[in-house]
Amino acid sequence: MTDIPLQIDGRPVAAKAGTTVLEAARAAGIAIPTLCHHERLEPFGACRICVVEAESRGQRRLVAACTHPVEAGLAVTTRSEKVDRIRKSILEMLLAHAPDSPALQALAREYGADRDRFEKDASFCIHCGLCVRYCAEIKQLNAVGFVDRGTGKEVSFLPEIAARECDRCKECFPLCPTSYLQAAYVLCQALAFPPGAGGPPAPAAPRRRDDRLRRAHARRPAAPGLPALLHRRGAPAVRGGGGLPGDRLRGGAAAGGRRRARLHRVHAAGARPVPDHLRARGRGRPGPAPGRAT
Ligand code: SF4
Ligand code: FES
Repeated sequence: MTDIPLQIDGRPVAAKAGTTVLEAARAAGIAIPTLCHHERLEPFGACRICVVEAESRGQRRLVAACTHPVEAGLAVTTRSEKVDRIRKSILEMLLAHAPDSPALQALAREYGADRDRFEKDASFCIHCGLCVRYCAEIKQLNAVGFVDRGTGKEVSFLPEIAARECDRCKECFPLCPTSYLQAAYVLCQALAFPPGAGGPPAPAAPRRRDDRLRRAHARRPAAPGLPALLHRRGAPAVRGGGGLPGDRLRGGAAAGGRRRARLHRVHAAGARPVPDHLRARGRGRPGPAPGRAT
């Protein structure tokens, strides 16, 4: 593969095609700060602390070094007044969430960031996604994930999976730049296994419990009045009563999803009859509501 010539901080650098500015800089011994980057994970571009100035074909832009691909003739500036000012502001915002994070404090010293500039909102997690992506991409377990969106977004362990997998793994803990993850796990453990319940079960126990629940669900008769479409698509685990939480996350195609399970419960309870226009159309897109002009 041919090398791509570019410049970083005025130094000529040759980088492999398909690599990022961050990789090219690090290979040349030039430091760029990162918070959400990990060399074993797909680039994410969440924290923006790796912002650099990139000039190409006469245009100068601010880009995230961890996601921006190298290109011939690119001229990158990793430190400038503008870049430092942006990094300082980013750090001040992140410090409002995680004021005691050692990684943030070290960067704050370097960029002169004021940890008290913004009102504290000590939610601790800075949403770098390292734990979530590590668990999904490397461990392929999805025991930890983001829940909710916008201001309500937070990282959370899924007790059902975490109880079985995390106790013997915990590889994501040292990745967390705020040390929050460990606290989140301890909280998850406390909620899932309150004192007196005997602590976390041995790894095999929840699976046995799941299997027992599954057998109980499978024995339940199919709910009368359930639309034929749902019966057909329903898998053994969800037929007649719904699947177990986490079935979909575990990738069990046969297990259906929470939505279908919820539909089963709603229809089985007779709480909401299936509208005629949906029943007639089967799995196609719902038609116009009865009485509405087409
Ligand atoms: S818990 Fe830690 S590692 Fe996970 S997203 Fe939040 S800051 Fe990142
Ligand atoms: S390290 Fe590049 S956006 Fe976070």
